[in-house]
Amino acid sequence: MTGTNSINIGDRDYPVLSGSVGPDVVDIRKLYANTGKFTYDPGFTSTASCESGLTYIDGDEGILLHRGYPIGQLAEHSSFMEVAYLLLNGELPDKAEFDKFNYTITRHTMLHEQLATFYRGFRRDAHPMAIMCGVVGALSAFYHDSTDITDPRQRMIASHRLIAKMPTIAAMAYKYSVGQPFLYPKNDLSYTGNFLRMTFGVPAEEYEIHPAVERALDRIFILHADHEQNASTSTVRLAGSSGANPFACIAAGIACLWGPAHGGANEAALNMLHEIGRPERIPEYIARAKDKNDPFRLMGFGHRVYKNYDPRATVMQKTVREVFDALKVSDPVFEVALQLEEMALKDDYFVEKKLFPNVDFYSGVILSAIGFPTTMFTALFALARTVGWVAQWNEMISDPDQKIGRPRQLYTGPTQRDYIPVEQR
Ligand code: SDX
Repeated sequence: MTGTNSINIGDRDYPVLSGSVGPDVVDIRKLYANTGKFTYDPGFTSTASCESGLTYIDGDEGILLHRGYPIGQLAEHSSFMEVAYLLLNGELPDKAEFDKFNYTITRHTMLHEQLATFYRGFRRDAHPMAIMCGVVGALSAFYHDSTDITDPRQRMIASHRLIAKMPTIAAMAYKYSVGQPFLYPKNDLSYTGNFLRMTFGVPAEEYEIHPAVERALDRIFILHADHEQNASTSTVRLAGSSGANPFACIAAGIACLWGPAHGGANEAALNMLHEIGRPERIPEYIARAKDKNDPFRLMGFGHRVYKNYDPRATVMQKTVREVFDALKVSDPVFEVALQLEEMALKDDYFVEKKLFPNVDFYSGVILSAIGFPTTMFTALFALARTVGWVAQWNEMISDPDQKIGRPRQLYTGPTQRDYIPVEQR
């Protein structure tokens, strides 16, 4: 971070700091002390909350880099475990480094046996995200030897445990919902292959992992791994800034991701496509999305940062075709999605507001084709985003400038007044 010029506010100059790429920032940390005034930015549309070297997004150009590597290249050539190593450590691993990392993650995939009893406390129809919030938060009651955040070794063990156990926890949430027994992880399977077997396998027979499905799902995990300071990552950072243990911080991130404006959009987008049902009904829904008096929005469309095509949506659409070809399936809802995208991108409303498909628009079509119920979609998003959350949390804890996050406000409530006894009211 460098700063040679400044901006004058009132009678003071405030440093302008430059990163390696992207917008400069105005360092206003002394603004309140100097002026007695706060900045005002609900939704943080113009606010950088931290310095980070993990992920760079250029929303106008539709660029997404993880530690400098374009998402399209990582999706094409890398694996989710390699991207996890990259985000955590800053560089792509050599073979020995990758094998050691993969070995470590693989051997943290089992859960403490007591945690399996947590599932029994939920109704069978509990939403998997409700279960994920509860079980991940409960991890801090089991892994006391990795909750001292001042110890880098404990931080890394907790990070590995979280990355490794999320597939097991998510698969168990699915098994519980369908009344099937939990399957233990198998160390001879890949991270994603293990998840597929724990989710769709049964004790009564061997589960055959379809290579094209394993590859497609691994790529979907890569596309969801990290995404700068989105709402759930900011939640993890804010929770972590208080010194909360990493399991509690990730549980907070899961809770935030669940919202339909964020990670819950993949479930909402597929439900919307099914509700539209056939291409002839698309104009009706586009009209509703444009109607100020109608709260309906095109789910999987629009983005706070991308004012161009989300590069992840491009890869996702290509992956739909690959999975359909591999499984020899089709789904009329994909045709609805393709025609909806085409019609929306020709409509002035969407063009003027720069609303394009985002990562959630096509992901549900693929996940549904693989066999996941829509209620599992956001749980899969949380599984993958745990890598980014953990990497961002580690970066924050290691930042010498980090302090507890504590925003201020513009107060518009009543000014001071005296208490009135009830008999006088
Ligand atoms: C994710 O931040 C991240 O990086 C998130 C994410 C990640 O990887 O972590 O990328 C994952 O959350 C993707 C986004 C998933 N959400 C959805 O698909 C839900 C539908 N989209 C939106 O609700 C909306 O686009 C947001 C929440 C994604 C972004 O909202 P913003 O940036 O706050 O923008 P806004 O709500 O102020 O919208 C700007 C205008 C508004 O119209 P005006 O009031 O200016 O007239 O565009 C309109 C909105 O009404 N608009 C839409 C729309 N999205 C925005 N109109 C119809 N359909 C939509 N989808």
